[in-house]
Amino acid sequence: MSSLTTMQKTERAPSTLRLSARMSRLGTETAFEVLVRARALEAQGKHIVHLEIGEPDFDTPRNVIDAGINALNQGFTHYGPSPGLPELRQTIADYVGRTRNVSVKPEEVVVVPGGKPIMFYAIMALADEGDEVIYPNPGFPIYESMVNFVGAKAVPIHLREDLDFALDIDELASSITGRTKMIIINSPHNPTGGILTKRDIERIAEAIGDRDIFVLSDEIYSRLLYDGQQHFSIMSLPDWKDRTILLDGFSKTYAMTGWRMGYGVMRADLAAQVSRLQTNAVSCTASFTQMAGVEALKGDQASVDKMAAEFKRRRDYVVERLNRIKGFSCKMPKGAFYVFPNVSKTGWKSKPLADALLEQAGVAALSGTAFGAYGEGYLRFSVANSMDNIKLALDRVEEWTKKNL
Ligand SMILES: Cc1ncc(COP(=O)(O)O)c(C=O)c1O
Repeated sequence: MSSLTTMQKTERAPSTLRLSARMSRLGTETAFEVLVRARALEAQGKHIVHLEIGEPDFDTPRNVIDAGINALNQGFTHYGPSPGLPELRQTIADYVGRTRNVSVKPEEVVVVPGGKPIMFYAIMALADEGDEVIYPNPGFPIYESMVNFVGAKAVPIHLREDLDFALDIDELASSITGRTKMIIINSPHNPTGGILTKRDIERIAEAIGDRDIFVLSDEIYSRLLYDGQQHFSIMSLPDWKDRTILLDGFSKTYAMTGWRMGYGVMRADLAAQVSRLQTNAVSCTASFTQMAGVEALKGDQASVDKMAAEFKRRRDYVVERLNRIKGFSCKMPKGAFYVFPNVSKTGWKSKPLADALLEQAGVAALSGTAFGAYGEGYLRFSVANSMDNIKLALDRVEEWTKKNL
């Protein structure tokens, strides 16, 4: 028998992939999956308008790009400290201190690759099996995913359209138990565009009282507010700094999604633990990216206002047109760059409707259920695309509904 035949005979059959049990509890962010499906349709020659993914269609401001290039040329190409470069931690401490009216020290800041890792790290660091974490539903899908992943219990608060998608604080109060470890809030809110006013935040704080509960406050859209709305952080309330984990970042405000940079602000002892998780996961955020972050926060802010004004213009247009489409009705979002129309009167469930719009009308949007069970009856359209593309998308949706409803 030749040695080749012997080898063929003993070749190992592919084994079954045996994942850890926790992997079955991990969710996902559907926007990335819809993007892949839309790209596959494009590869077959179909034209798709992309309103699924949540990223500004603008370029990163020139001064920020230049700061990144300069940093590369100056040798910021090495590892840095896990919680971030001292210069950026100080800049963030000053910025958050100024915008949230609190005193923040650099050791209370952890710089991470995007805002998302703060969810991952904070939930990982604080929530044990059996603990409860209250979160908004519909809401950013990673909250629920991470809570389930670590084996804690995800307790949804239903964000209702009749309350303009603000939290029902009575429902929140009655959901708090002795096992509640964390409450996640997000204002301005993805996907609904709802906001929490100063009064709402005060009432949330009152509902929690002096219990030992952390609030993970996702403020990534805090600079994208419309119609004179003001952002208010729970961190600004007296005695709340120690119980707040503030999540913010550069992706949305400075159109820097691909740079991967965000941050958390939290009490210094927790920051040290979050930093330890970062050492285990990715070591640190890219150094030259962080130097661009210093420029983003310290440099000219005109591009932020310009971008927000353009999002507002598109929001107004989209809401007005959606409200004229049969079966659709749409509230005016107060912040972020999404619209979240109610489509229950179309007679379609959200997911098949989003699929049909993608496949038959060439418009990529997300089913409300991508944001949790209470997203049923809604679709999410991002307005982070050019006005021409938005007009085309709405023409297509309108035409499709005329033929199919
Ligand atoms: C509510 C919310 N938080 C956090 C993030 C994460 O942002 P980043 O891309 O910086 O990780 C997103 C992104 O879509 C978001 O919508």
